Amino acid sequence: MPLFHPLAVTDLRKTIKDAVVVTLEPLEGGDFHFIQGQYLTFRREINGTEIRRSYSICSGRNEGILRVGIKRVDGGAFSTWANTELEIGETLEAMEPMGRFHAPLEPERAKSYLGFAGGSGITPVLSILRTVLAEEPDSSFTLIYANKGVGTIMFRDEIEDLKNTYMERLGIVHILERDSQDMDLFTGMVTEDKCARLFDKWIDVQTADIAFICGPEPMMLGIAKALKSHGMREEQIKYELFTGNQPGKLERPATTMREKEATGTYELKATIDGSSRTIVARRDMSVLEAMLENSIDAPFACRAGVCSTCMCKLVEGEVEMVANHALEDYEVERGFVLACQSYPITNRIAVDYDSGVHADL
Ligand code: FES
Repeated sequence: MPLFHPLAVTDLRKTIKDAVVVTLEPLEGGDFHFIQGQYLTFRREINGTEIRRSYSICSGRNEGILRVGIKRVDGGAFSTWANTELEIGETLEAMEPMGRFHAPLEPERAKSYLGFAGGSGITPVLSILRTVLAEEPDSSFTLIYANKGVGTIMFRDEIEDLKNTYMERLGIVHILERDSQDMDLFTGMVTEDKCARLFDKWIDVQTADIAFICGPEPMMLGIAKALKSHGMREEQIKYELFTGNQPGKLERPATTMREKEATGTYELKATIDGSSRTIVARRDMSVLEAMLENSIDAPFACRAGVCSTCMCKLVEGEVEMVANHALEDYEVERGFVLACQSYPITNRIAVDYDSGVHADL
């Protein structure tokens, strides 16, 4: 089964100067029904290099439309192209929706949600917010949205419209790093201390059922600490890391100590879509690099241990995962690994992409 499928660009709209909202229509193959909070991984050749880049879906599941937000990153080849050259009518190639930044919808319950977003981290949070408010009629949502200034607030008008539609059930707190607001508390960086003060006075964490956090890592860690010190349990918090270390920057992956020290070869058996192949690779190659070098069409996107697109199950042998920003401890305990970050410890390794990968574990 092909990993990538064609999608037509049916609409393009700037939400701020440096971010474009792209509406897509699947053309042929693939199942693009998504869960709120998931992302699409695109592929495109730029200057002879294949770029893969993941962008979160920003539309709600209830809207029956597939839409992603693409913020331009300094030096980012894909995001710059999408913001400056992409046109309506062009065809993009993307993998089916992926990602586990979501919770089951329960229309019969009245739940209280907290959503924290930093900058372009709003995209998956907006998808969740829209879906929850439409499909759980008794639930409420509080959005805490951090930006540099008013001019960088993505989806500002849409969020205002949602506020007018769901006046009783949607609360919004904008925190602006540079632009001052009426209260000091709403200006500056979103830190653990600022969150703690917000939770003391403005936001009731005790009655919240679940929190979604998406943004840069230091912000996410500060928010999570403050949530926990106000009574929220770890299992009530969902994370989606947005990192500046994007494959679109055309950077080479960092060389780890392992790669420098490793010599010789290892045997790798890979099972994808029911068929298995065994290859021999240099020990300084990650499991993903070994597969790609041998023309095995294994899924990947960020190559940085962030997105989980390359997640697979280690069914034989041992590996060292040099970075992991995507898998939970219990997933690692069950044998799941990130192929892009996994280097061999044993001489023979077997990985399986068909064992419950990307299902809700
Ligand atoms: Fe993103 Fe491996 S490709 S975590």
